[in-house]
Amino acid sequence: MISGVRVVVAGSSGLIGTALVADLRHAGHEVLRLVRRTPAAPDERGWDPPAGRIDDGTFDGVDAVINLNGAGIGDRPWSGARKQQLRDSRTVPTDVLAGAVAEHGVASLLNASGINFYGDTGSRVVDESAPVGAGFLAELCRDWEVATAPAAAAGARVVLMRSCVVLSPAGGLLGRLRPLFSLMLGGRLGSGRQAFPWISLDDEVGAMRFLVEHPDVRGPVNLAGPEPVTNAEFTAALAAVLNRPALLTVPALALRAVLGQAAEEMILTGPLAVPAVLQEHGYEFRHRTVTDALSAAVDR
Ligand SMILES: NC(=O)c1ccc[n+]([C@@H]2O[C@H](COP(=O)([O-])OP(=O)(O)OC[C@H]3O[C@@H](n4cnc5c(N)ncnc54)[C@H](OP(=O)(O)O)[C@@H]3O)[C@@H](O)[C@H]2O)c1
Repeated sequence: MISGVRVVVAGSSGLIGTALVADLRHAGHEVLRLVRRTPAAPDERGWDPPAGRIDDGTFDGVDAVINLNGAGIGDRPWSGARKQQLRDSRTVPTDVLAGAVAEHGVASLLNASGINFYGDTGSRVVDESAPVGAGFLAELCRDWEVATAPAAAAGARVVLMRSCVVLSPAGGLLGRLRPLFSLMLGGRLGSGRQAFPWISLDDEVGAMRFLVEHPDVRGPVNLAGPEPVTNAEFTAALAAVLNRPALLTVPALALRAVLGQAAEEMILTGPLAVPAVLQEHGYEFRHRTVTDALSAAVDR
């Protein structure tokens, strides 16, 4: 384990990035934030991913780069143009950062990706050895990961952080589902038999810091809670934590109306993923069950 790391974080203004920067600093690491606007604080450095530009000196003495950039997957319907934006807003920043890591000899690139890399795996449990699946999100994740290649080719340690849905008090998918339950309209989503891949925000951030501090880990890493659940089990746990009944089924049609095509790949199907690499390397989860994670997410 290494301490006192100097880290550059891109996409630091988002749900995960905000919590990650605070956690890294609390643990004694030094964080520089890459911002796509004019830098406004001593810890900020500017960059323009489409132009391939990053402020001079950004990588001086830097040990690791963490890339969290990307337009919101479930924010709006997936038109052809939106799909292109979802893809470009991930592959372009990744390509620019991987090139910079290679050029400046940075030791580690930790790149966000999604558990949707595996596609719909039915009832089969998947660890990091599973192949890429089918569907828009699986292909997007594959291309996103491939964009890290220049860093790996230059000898950097590349970690591909395949994250599940992050259960957070600050929003994310849970923020969109919670009002349904508060109105007692929440229920099983679709058939309920599909997997609901989850991780708590504390463990998302804790695992990312663990990966910064453990240079022996490289390649794909599932950021998943240790006990995978079906969607019906997730729904029952959420209803219990909110002290609301989960009597109804939210039909696939209604989910598609709210979330568009994203519902198909984000909620109505999902891989039953396990965090094999994190567990093999001794990461200790703060929230081992979905009930623990949901309690932490809705109590704060
Ligand atoms: N939250 C989840 O459940 C989850 C699950 C799996 C994977 N992930 C992935 O993990 C990463 C971080 O997730 P998050 O929940 O923190 O996301 P988020 O809150 O939407 O933040 C993503 C960050 O990306 C940057 N960004 C936004 N639009 C962009 C665009 N068009 N082009 C380039 N950069 C853009 C922004 O940072 P700046 O303005 O500071 O550049 C934003 O703060 C994302 O790539 C996401 O797909 C998240």
